[in-house]
Amino acid sequence: MRSLRFLDHTHFELDGQHFEFADPFENVAPSSAEAPFVLKTRRQLDNYVELLAGCSVHNVVELGIDRGGSTIFLDKLLRPQRLVAVDLRAVPPPALERYLETPGRKDVIRAHYGVDQSDKARLAAILDEAFGDEPIDLVIDDASHVYGPTVASFEAIFPRLRPGALYIVEDWDALHMFADGISEAISDPANPAHEAFKRRVAATGLQPKPALELGRFAMEATLLAAGTRDLVREVRVRHNWIVLERGAASIDRATANIDALAVDRFRVLRPREETIESVFEL
Ligand SMILES: C[S@@+](CC[C@H](N)C(=O)[O-])C[C@H]1O[C@@H](n2cnc3c(N)ncnc32)[C@H](O)[C@@H]1O
Repeated sequence: MRSLRFLDHTHFELDGQHFEFADPFENVAPSSAEAPFVLKTRRQLDNYVELLAGCSVHNVVELGIDRGGSTIFLDKLLRPQRLVAVDLRAVPPPALERYLETPGRKDVIRAHYGVDQSDKARLAAILDEAFGDEPIDLVIDDASHVYGPTVASFEAIFPRLRPGALYIVEDWDALHMFADGISEAISDPANPAHEAFKRRVAATGLQPKPALELGRFAMEATLLAAGTRDLVREVRVRHNWIVLERGAASIDRATANIDALAVDRFRVLRPREETIESVFEL
């Protein structure tokens, strides 16, 4: 496993490549070919290095490419056999396009644009083409951070993981972070985001948006580990990610469904239709 060398509070180096990084709340930097931008905190980057040290990772899927830095980061960190990356945006990020010109990288990295993570049939076709019958070792979902699309991708991809493989959902608590971040910025005039958030709140009136909170998936992930079925061997939850380790039970790709898999035998979850919608439309 290669290690990261932090150069200052917004740059690091890995395997001869410089990267720029920032907290998702600061989310300001463009991405250059010289220092592709990764939208992760230092703590998240350290988490990846710690988690993946010693793991055998050949086939990787990343949902959410953004400016391309995280795809390049995963390629440099893991040197996978195959790395499939998808994003809803239609336009490829220049930094990743440039990186793909490096000899050998186009054979490994398959980037797909204009792909919605909810589109299970499209994901299945992409994965069939990239991996055939080979199992997947690692999935990182850093795309919509919205419950429905996150679950759709999970249902499409999780059955394809080998036992022991990891499925990571980043920033599952995005709405909590967002709500905390807004409250802090609005209550503190010295906060750099104070004026911007005040303007946005004044413009939108903080209308609730109908969406289930992704935290529900964290609860369902726990139910996936319940009982003797060995669908999920372990679930680790931190404030900014959920890591599910695949168990050995086979799951039918065609019919995988979260309600059938995460059996809520004792009704610890509220029915979806009763869940409070508390998302801010900003
Ligand atoms: C948080 S950014 C990804 C950051 C990147 N992984 C990194 O660490 O630098 C989220 C990305 O997911 C994409 N996205 C949002 N909703 C999506 C969806 N439903 N399907 C696929 N991609 C989506 C956005 O276009 C955006 O590029």
